[in-house]
Amino acid sequence: MTPDVSRKVLVVVVGGSERQRTEIERALMSFYKVQSFAEAEAAKAMLAKTTPALVLIDEEVPPKGGYKLLINLLLLPSLQGVPFVGLSGRPQSDLLDFIEAKKLGVALAKPFLRSRLLKSISGLINKSVEQGWEKIEPVQRQALTKTVALFNDISDNLESGEPIPFASVRESCKPLAQAIATQSYRDILKGVKGHDNYSYVHSLRVATFLSLFGTTIGMKGDELLLLASGGMLHDIGKMTIPHDVLNKPGKLSSEEFTVMKSHVTNSVALLNSGLEIPKGVIVIAEQHHEKLDGTGYPNGIKGGQLNELARMAAIVDIFGALTDRRVYKDPMPPEKALGIMAEMTDGLDQNFLALFRHVLLDAALEAA
Ligand SMILES: [Fe+2]
Ligand SMILES: [Fe+2]
Repeated sequence: MTPDVSRKVLVVVVGGSERQRTEIERALMSFYKVQSFAEAEAAKAMLAKTTPALVLIDEEVPPKGGYKLLINLLLLPSLQGVPFVGLSGRPQSDLLDFIEAKKLGVALAKPFLRSRLLKSISGLINKSVEQGWEKIEPVQRQALTKTVALFNDISDNLESGEPIPFASVRESCKPLAQAIATQSYRDILKGVKGHDNYSYVHSLRVATFLSLFGTTIGMKGDELLLLASGGMLHDIGKMTIPHDVLNKPGKLSSEEFTVMKSHVTNSVALLNSGLEIPKGVIVIAEQHHEKLDGTGYPNGIKGGQLNELARMAAIVDIFGALTDRRVYKDPMPPEKALGIMAEMTDGLDQNFLALFRHVLLDAALEAA
């Protein structure tokens, strides 16, 4: 299936080498709408009228080079605040030095890895989205900034082989739980809409919905924090899944699906080796893909073996996945998602679904 490009954000690529432009287009096209230019004038004309999410410039751009083009582009009102990626194959480069000195984005020396390019672009786009959070009401802003920092910290922890400390997870989830307790969560759900780290967006939405379930049945304080933390950590094992599988637009092959499913056992291993991670958090991660009729994964447990927290998490996880925006699909309307879930009579806890139906509908409406 060819993904509909209209749901992707625009990245503009400018560079004289056709081979390089093609390589970059190939690397980015699954995730972004890419428009590329071989020379400066055409790029400038287009960028004067359009604001892309990011501009990538090679040092070799006819007629006067990438540095001159960048200086010209910075004068365009349409590009204020737009991040840049500069590319150069030379050890000394005005373009890269300028980007670094003025903190305009990321300077990449060639040759670079495709993964490095994707990570740089994603990081810069996220930074722009996160800058927009500055205008949000303080508790909701902190709910976003602290959870995104938590995600980055955990990613660093995993890279350096350090355990996840629950004390910092708990601390990072406090503003989220606080916001949920006072039912003010609209800007949290709205604030992650253009964010490029899908695992973060999904986890935050799951944490928000799960905490809302908690307040509906009277949970407060530490209990609510446990749900918020459980939601944030439920897919943490996805950080070990390769980018291409995790973000593949469209259907996974059976081998890829096996890799994807391993996120559950990875999550459990990471949480078990974490510092003082509560059992409830681990159970949410371990059982959120299990089904009442035993057809779920990884253990195929059924009925009464399924923990209540995990039954709630399964509902939120499916609702979240159906109503999430991905590069290859629009979000499903919440009523339609709930209708599909109401037909999963053998797999999902229908008593919980009936109990929490209006919570999910209200939340989706608020964030619309
Ligand atoms: Fe999952
Ligand atoms: Fe999930």
